[in-house]
Amino acid sequence: MKNEKFYVSYNTVHKLVKGLAQKIMKSDFDPDVIVAIGSGGFIPARIIKTFINRPIYAVGISYYGVDKKHKTHPTKIQWIDEVQEQLKGKKVLLIDEVDDTRATLGYCVRELLKYNPEEIAVLVLHNKLKEKDANFPVEIKRYFPALEIEDIWIKYPWDAEDIEDHTNREKAMLLNNG
Ligand code: G4P
Ligand code: MG
Repeated sequence: MKNEKFYVSYNTVHKLVKGLAQKIMKSDFDPDVIVAIGSGGFIPARIIKTFINRPIYAVGISYYGVDKKHKTHPTKIQWIDEVQEQLKGKKVLLIDEVDDTRATLGYCVRELLKYNPEEIAVLVLHNKLKEKDANFPVEIKRYFPALEIEDIWIKYPWDAEDIEDHTNREKAMLLNNG
């Protein structure tokens, strides 16, 4: 699959999230709140709420400025004071779309841990198998990637300008790979 892009349809996203939700429900982790990392985590978070109905809090972290230039470190672009109050002593289901370098995710987890939640479980749709720029702190005991994939660019449906074409490309890709 060299130099290719990995297409993911809405249906696939839905199924991956459902699988994650089922894994969580079977485990002994009973979350109190969902925290979505924007913007990639927003749609997965809303889907997981269908299976695990908890309040969703949204945080925005970005490694890129509005000019699309890579910054030296991730920064908060949306961070609601309400989050701080709501996480104290709570079991948190943190969700994002992709674990790539782990820089953004790691930063977000460290910031959220400052609010003394009981636990944070990290859920992602895709974990890229590669050397990471950051690690999760030891406090993170549960990590649930729906799918582990090689280090290629993933095309998510919410970025598609032509969703039919996007969905067809996923179909073709899956057929090609048997
Ligand atoms: P990580 O901690 O989750 O690994 O994120 P990292 O800082 O490595 O990634 C920087 C940005 O690049 C993130 O977007 C992440 O979602 C995005 N990204 C990384 N790999 C892929 C990929 O294969 N496909 C797509 N579509 N995006 C990828 P962000 O700054 O959080 O912005 P947003 O898109 O979530 O709003
Ligand atoms: Mg993201």
